Amino acid sequence: MDWITVKQQAREKFRGSCRVCPVCNGIVCAGEVPGMGGLGTAASFHNNLKALAECKLNLRTIHEVTSPKISRILFGKEMAVPVIAAAIGGIGLNMNGAMTEREYCQAVVAGCRQAGVVAMTGDGPKPEVFDSGLEALAEYPGYAIPVIKPRCTEKIIELAEQAAAAGALAFGVDIDAAALVNMTNAGQPVGPKTQQDLATIKKHTTIPFIAKGIMTPDDALRCAAAGVDAIVVTNHGGRALDHTPGTAEVLPAISEAVQGQLTILVDGGIRSGADILKLLALGADGVLVGRPLAIGAVGGGAGGVALVINKLAAELRAAMVLTGVGDVTTVPPSVLWGGRR
Ligand SMILES: Cc1cc2nc3c(=O)[nH]c(=O)nc-3n(C[C@H](O)[C@H](O)[C@H](O)COP(=O)(O)O)c2cc1C
Repeated sequence: MDWITVKQQAREKFRGSCRVCPVCNGIVCAGEVPGMGGLGTAASFHNNLKALAECKLNLRTIHEVTSPKISRILFGKEMAVPVIAAAIGGIGLNMNGAMTEREYCQAVVAGCRQAGVVAMTGDGPKPEVFDSGLEALAEYPGYAIPVIKPRCTEKIIELAEQAAAAGALAFGVDIDAAALVNMTNAGQPVGPKTQQDLATIKKHTTIPFIAKGIMTPDDALRCAAAGVDAIVVTNHGGRALDHTPGTAEVLPAISEAVQGQLTILVDGGIRSGADILKLLALGADGVLVGRPLAIGAVGGGAGGVALVINKLAAELRAAMVLTGVGDVTTVPPSVLWGGRR
């Protein structure tokens, strides 16, 4: 199986819900939510790619780095590359029924395991969304991180403990889904969380807690004060709020503010190994990849997911050789032309 075939197969199976463009940039699908696009004008989605494109790398080839180390430990687990599959839920609605929720979770978690990394799974108004993640986890314990919608605190704790019992490596809450109307319309209200709510969730759960949807240093500091283990700097792939900055723009200030108090993950518009290197240089410990892995899963199942991750890993390795970086855990800001912004 090769990437061109996977993309062709995905294009057919998506039946218009994703055009599988040469570069997944949110232009053709702007406003397609439900669907695979970004909300409203899709400015937030576009800003993710724009911010990454604006970061340029210093090409350096006079050094001794020939086989850089791209593996690292995250949440106590050795990852072949610091890439985690982003949570993607609502497959029926967003992908025109290209796969069932269960097939999607199985493909992504199995593919990640094959490539030596782990996957986040989603949540939604229908129980099958969260439950499909747990089922995949039961098959591949330790290889999934269920992400729970910002439901009431008691429900989050209950679902997080279900995830822990199923063998989850960690659990997340995508706080940026605080205004998701389809949850509220289905009688499962979501909303913002206070620092105290986050501290309560942390206190009553047993596996690492990841807050997903952090875009400002003060929210990141509130997470650190609440004892949250990790944050995901993300604008939900441009699907939560129109007109937010790109994640590469906000990441340096967040990383500087938290000073290593918690693990920093980031996502949004990551399409190559060079993009990963840029975000590590801007202060991330690891990254999440969303839509490219959805294309891999729909077009090639678990094998398609592993293919995308292996491709990103090979590109990251090459980018490290060409910038003289020996280890993903210590990517200096000097990798970026002009340094860290
Ligand atoms: C169709 C779709 C469904 C998503 N569902 C969820 C979800 O259930 N939970 C969640 O935390 N994030 C969800 N996300 C956001 C992703 O986890 C991730 O933040 C985003 O896709 C990253 O940007 P990228 O796709 O440009 O890589 C979804 C994204 C898409 C495109």
